Amino acid sequence: PTRIIIDCDPGVDDAAAILMALGSPELDVLGVTTVAGNVTLSATLTNACRIVGLARRPDVPVMAGARAPLLRDQIFGKYAEIGAFPAHLVGMGRVEPAAENAVRFIARMARAAARTQSPLTICAIGPLTNIALALRLHPEVARGIRRIVCMGGTFQAPGHASRWAEFNMLADPHAAAIVFDSGVPLVLFPLDVTTKALFTERHVAAFRASGSEGGRALANLLTEYDRSDPARYGRLGGPLHDAMTVAWLLRPGLFTGRPARVEVQLTGPANGQTFADFAAPSPRVAVMTGVDEPGYIALVSERIAAAGRAGHR
Ligand code: BDR
Ligand code: CA
Repeated sequence: PTRIIIDCDPGVDDAAAILMALGSPELDVLGVTTVAGNVTLSATLTNACRIVGLARRPDVPVMAGARAPLLRDQIFGKYAEIGAFPAHLVGMGRVEPAAENAVRFIARMARAAARTQSPLTICAIGPLTNIALALRLHPEVARGIRRIVCMGGTFQAPGHASRWAEFNMLADPHAAAIVFDSGVPLVLFPLDVTTKALFTERHVAAFRASGSEGGRALANLLTEYDRSDPARYGRLGGPLHDAMTVAWLLRPGLFTGRPARVEVQLTGPANGQTFADFAAPSPRVAVMTGVDEPGYIALVSERIAAAGRAGHR
């Protein structure tokens, strides 16, 4: 299996990505690391512990990392008031967080991976603070990372955290710049592609009917915090941005993309805006542009249905 670390800020779509990964035998989840983002660090940690708990995976360590962005003032997501997922939506089960700091864990795992020449994959679905810190504090860890599969940025589509910026970029643009410049290969899922696959009430009902704890919890979260926006997307349904990173790891053929060099704006009103140069020499970022929507939705549904099902590891 592909060895991954999920660095996240759950977040409803982060929860979907974690559940999918835990429901996928092709992936070996070494740990779930959390960062402040959609909600505070303590709430992202609680939420990750609840999601890993309901998937019945106490073998997967969950750790907290950065409490705030590197330089800018802190912002939270649109649904910041969610805070910690209430137990009536996701159940009472939870794992205890591990004591190790997330940045140290990422560095320790990457260093070990470099030693054994089996570099690992990082699924980065929150602000990039933890990963930037790991790369800056321990430059040797870059060698232990095969690639970072990241949800973030927007190129043609308008921003949603500001007029120009996507949330993960706006929340810590300096961290994003460090990661884009690190030399580690990246696969990037901007809003342009994540908003091309929308989950409707019918899909949410199917999550609920799947009979798994993961499916039920995700259906409850999606019902409570409706993400559809017909004015923005031109049709019914809402995206599950972060789940695309995990789907790509399982079935990259569902997606199309183009290599580019990516930069992020660090100041002014367009702070957090991303730019792609598709003509740059030696591009390091595969910018995803297209998705097979029905294939992707079927894959998400299948793996969510496997998460937290009795008998599943
Ligand atoms: C990203 O920001 C968060 O709101 C989501 O969890 C996702 O990672 C989408 O822009
Ligand atoms: Ca996220």
